[in-house]
Amino acid sequence: MKELEDKVAVITGGGSGLGRELALGCARRGMKLVLADVDESGMQETVTEVEKAAPGTGTATMKVDVSRLEDVEALANLAKERFGGAHLLFNNAGVGINAPIWENTVGDWNWVLGVNLYGVAWGIKVFAPIMLEQGEGHIVNTASAAGWMNMAGSGIYNVSKCSVVAMSETLANDIKDVGGNVGVSCLSPAFFPTPIIESERNRPAEHAETAPDSEARRKREEQLRQAVTKGKLSAEEVAEITIKAVEANQFYIFPHQKIKQLILARAEAVQDEKTAFDPTAGR
Ligand SMILES: NC(=O)c1ccc[n+]([C@@H]2O[C@H](COP(=O)([O-])OP(=O)(O)OC[C@H]3O[C@@H](n4cnc5c(N)ncnc54)[C@H](O)[C@@H]3O)[C@@H](O)[C@H]2O)c1
Repeated sequence: MKELEDKVAVITGGGSGLGRELALGCARRGMKLVLADVDESGMQETVTEVEKAAPGTGTATMKVDVSRLEDVEALANLAKERFGGAHLLFNNAGVGINAPIWENTVGDWNWVLGVNLYGVAWGIKVFAPIMLEQGEGHIVNTASAAGWMNMAGSGIYNVSKCSVVAMSETLANDIKDVGGNVGVSCLSPAFFPTPIIESERNRPAEHAETAPDSEARRKREEQLRQAVTKGKLSAEEVAEITIKAVEANQFYIFPHQKIKQLILARAEAVQDEKTAFDPTAGR
């Protein structure tokens, strides 16, 4: 979608990290914003920063749990009522968790897949028909490098993010199949510093039962904390790369270009058939 000015951006997970930076980038381009998050104070902070960066931006917020279809339907109604539609959807809300995969509980699976997988599925289900009917739109799904390779200790997250890659490629092909004018992008960043390492802060009580505090879990959590904190690109840079890719109607977005070499190395491991590809081997 080349022209973003005066269009409407809907951003899930708009109360923190990448979602906040996407909001700022869209506001600077003259877009109207509809922010969705379970964290209302985080969204208010985003609104304050948007007002500073781009005074007068039209902004609406809604407390939304993206794992609930009815919440996402209410979000779409808000976008229609306040701004007459939705042109650019960022299915961006996401949470992380670490543990050896056999230690993860039913609560861990339901929580993480609820946000990272069903959250994206409901965004597509609700907003794709609106955009197809409008005759224009673009959907960006936030996957991850973890959608393409499977580090130890991140089992559910890996599963959720490879599902996002699958949903994105399928969505693009489905839209092509019906001749729709809706763009799709699959965003796959490596680590960048955000509060994602504190994902438990927004974990609902109904999914509270989690994996034991094992040594293996603690080790992986610490590794992840280090990797996220030391990430080379900032959330602002990832957001800017992403919005520029939307303007260029680009499908695959790899803000950290080195990830593509690892994907090729994985393809070689597949060709070789001997061992599971380990993206951290040799580091
Ligand atoms: N930070 C990284 O290193 C990294 C790397 C690759 C991909 N990602 C992805 O980027 C996206 C944004 O994450 P971030 O790094 O900005 O983390 P973040 O924790 O700063 O932001 C995530 C936001 O999602 C919200 N959220 C959580 N559960 C929700 C729910 N049920 N409904 C609605 N909102 C909910 C949180 O409140 C938070 O505001 C995620 O999809 C994440 O998986 C992050």
